[in-house]
Amino acid sequence: MTKKPLKEDYQLKERFKTESEVFDREALLDLSKLLKKQILQTVDYPVSTGKEANVFRASTPDGKYVAVKIYKNETAPFFRKMDYLEGDPRFERIKHNDRDIVRAFARKEFKNLEICERAGIHSPKPYFLINRVLVMSFLGEGDLPYPTMNMVGPLHGEKDLDSILDDVRKMYRKGLVHADLSEYNIMMGDVPYLIDFGQGVVTRHPHAMRFLERDVGIILKFFARHGIKRDLAKTLGCIKD
Ligand SMILES: Nc1ncnc2c1ncn2[C@@H]1O[C@H](COP(=O)(O)OP(=O)(O)O)[C@@H](O)[C@H]1O
Ligand SMILES: [Mg+2]
Repeated sequence: MTKKPLKEDYQLKERFKTESEVFDREALLDLSKLLKKQILQTVDYPVSTGKEANVFRASTPDGKYVAVKIYKNETAPFFRKMDYLEGDPRFERIKHNDRDIVRAFARKEFKNLEICERAGIHSPKPYFLINRVLVMSFLGEGDLPYPTMNMVGPLHGEKDLDSILDDVRKMYRKGLVHADLSEYNIMMGDVPYLIDFGQGVVTRHPHAMRFLERDVGIILKFFARHGIKRDLAKTLGCIKD
């Protein structure tokens, strides 16, 4: 008789997968520093395990939830994205070794989140960064993270699209383009929140306009599938205005 896998077996397998891939020596050391410095109180559970990074729900000593994103120590997924680093004047001098490249993407996301905070857009607040470990505000309700827009669709119709485009415009005015915007990188709370800023480039990047057009095109296509149609050229005009 073959043994039916139990839910616990699966969870254990997932846990070990996560532990071996993310909690390498360096990440563990950085996490222990965050615990020692009392920036974190607990690291609770993985919210997401992706190709480039894993995200955990964690808590602070004053009882607040935070999200901890740990970039993986594997360069393969990042090599495809070198274009986003190299054209960005902030990261021109990055050395081309594995460690520095992954760290640069983590730093890029942190800096971009700082710009977003100054622009007053709906995105996680950046709290702390050590090497590949980024601590930010937790987007969720109670214990659970908000769902991403690909899972639940727009929740407030046109209003959600207006909110997203307004945020894209505010970012652009602060000199930033997300460059990886899609329904997968938007979390749906009371309003849509933009996340995953590792690829974000400054508007001086030689391909910034192409990235902006792609971002907006992807969002308009998603909303069009939900019956909300807007003209791309006009929308871009409003953003760049
Ligand atoms: N600040 C956050 N609060 C709660 N959940 C988050 C937060 N940031 C990311 N997540 C969750 O983790 C997933 C992956 O995060 P993301 O930054 O998109 O990384 P990647 O796509 O590179 O793996 C998201 O889809 C979301 O479910
Ligand atoms: Mg993502």
